[in-house]
Amino acid sequence: MHIQMNDIHKAFGTNQVLSGVDFELREGEVHALMGENGAGKSTLMNILIGLHERNQGTILIDGKETYFPSPKEAEQHGIAFIHQELNVWPDMTVLENLFIGKEMTNAFGILQTKEMRTLAIEQFRKLAVTIPIDQEAGQCSVGQQQMIEIAKALMTNAKVIVMDEPTAALTEREIEKLFEVIHSLRKEGVSIVYISHRMEEIFTICDRITVMRDGKTVDTKDIPDTSFEEVVKKMVGRELTERYPVRNPKPGEVVLEAKNMSRKGIFENISFTVRSGEIVGFSGLMGAGRTEIMRALFGLDSLTSGEIQIRGKKVMIRRPEDAVKHGVGFITEDRKDEGLVLDFSIKDNMVLPSLFSFSNRAGVISSKKEQEFVDTLIKRLLIKTESSETAAKNLSGGNQQKVVIAKWVGIGPNVLILDEPTRGVDVGAKREIYELMNELTDRGVAIIMVSSELPEVLGMSDRILVVHEGHITGELSHEEATQEKIMTLATGGQ
Ligand SMILES: Nc1ncnc2c1ncn2[C@@H]1O[C@H](COP(=O)(O)OP(=O)(O)OP(=O)(O)O)[C@@H](O)[C@H]1O
Ligand SMILES: [Mg+2]
Repeated sequence: MHIQMNDIHKAFGTNQVLSGVDFELREGEVHALMGENGAGKSTLMNILIGLHERNQGTILIDGKETYFPSPKEAEQHGIAFIHQELNVWPDMTVLENLFIGKEMTNAFGILQTKEMRTLAIEQFRKLAVTIPIDQEAGQCSVGQQQMIEIAKALMTNAKVIVMDEPTAALTEREIEKLFEVIHSLRKEGVSIVYISHRMEEIFTICDRITVMRDGKTVDTKDIPDTSFEEVVKKMVGRELTERYPVRNPKPGEVVLEAKNMSRKGIFENISFTVRSGEIVGFSGLMGAGRTEIMRALFGLDSLTSGEIQIRGKKVMIRRPEDAVKHGVGFITEDRKDEGLVLDFSIKDNMVLPSLFSFSNRAGVISSKKEQEFVDTLIKRLLIKTESSETAAKNLSGGNQQKVVIAKWVGIGPNVLILDEPTRGVDVGAKREIYELMNELTDRGVAIIMVSSELPEVLGMSDRILVVHEGHITGELSHEEATQEKIMTLATGGQ
């Protein structure tokens, strides 16, 4: 299938999001779509599949003007979309999720459960994922939910697949597997639009790249004819020198200590310390138990045994409220469920958990202080929005992530747990988040960072703990850590 989008314009209210985008997708190519958070990538693709209506411009599919009234028609026409935001139905099983809206029936209208099961298992085998298909999707980790979305799109036998940040929640191994699948799809003539903020991936898997900025196409190039530096410069409109700021850690006293923490069947004998001013990175494969350890630290899950100490004193953290009371903040990897109230404004999302820090001694909230804080962080984190009153759901994926981070900064925690903090965030804003982490640790905050991006773990952690199957299998200092050493420990090697 060949797609040509010409001079596409789109505004949401007064917010002009696209103002003249050209995009061509050839048969059998993997085409990267890059641009800063809020540049309009997801919107452009949503226009292609008929989720949004364009204000102006033409779309040609195999040379014929085509406008789909809804995503359903686009899918019937052979265009599948793996959305950036995970859309699984938590109360339905994995299998039900895979076949939602396209259940297989025989000539008598009877559900062909057996056939559907076989297809699902076969698809998971191709992707090398092990997810029980009868489990409720809500029980799956974020990474598994991502895999369900991918499998679902692949099962439609599409001619064009739009992948919007498909690897944000996946680990290196799964990404490799996905890349194998992309390679074989391309051989079969399937075209792929690949949206990602991960430069390495784009240069590994894509044939061409289109860069967008401020709602316009900046350039389209063959991958071999361009470079990291050139792409970044076109994206952000300026040179970006180093990806990671220099760290000058001055670790102080131990703020948090985990002692033999266990949660039956999930993790066992987890012991570690975090000092003030320190960033401790947690590395490991998806499903190793890193997020589960963090959830327990924050009181979202209970411990079977072991204890948590804050500044040398044993504390009881049974609920998130207890954690917050002890100065522990948690930026979850799941911004949709736990991180944000989508219908609330940016401002309310940012200040709600920290209302007390904006009130005077009599408990009166200073709306001026509040607004200052909100405005500063919007500017600081390059959150792309017209106003702080905009509902969180109307922000682009990466900008939502930034709001989650801002909200916890407002609380002024002693310990801040960051689970995949830069997931879906563009290069420029990533750098801002790293700078913010540096500032927080300079102020004495202890940071625990869970990240599946090895360069990020290596770039920002003062110490790295590697988790494998619910156990800490090793600790590496910033100096001694390498990708190879981490991978060895993460896969259970010595
Ligand atoms: N339904 C909507 N109503 C109002 N504004 C919207 C809506 N959807 C998107 N926008 C705005 O359109 C702009 C582009 O958003 P889009 O999601 O396309 O960005 P993106 O390039 O995909 O960014 P990211 O890398 O963060 O995913 C953003 O400023 C966003 O706030
Ligand atoms: Mg997007």
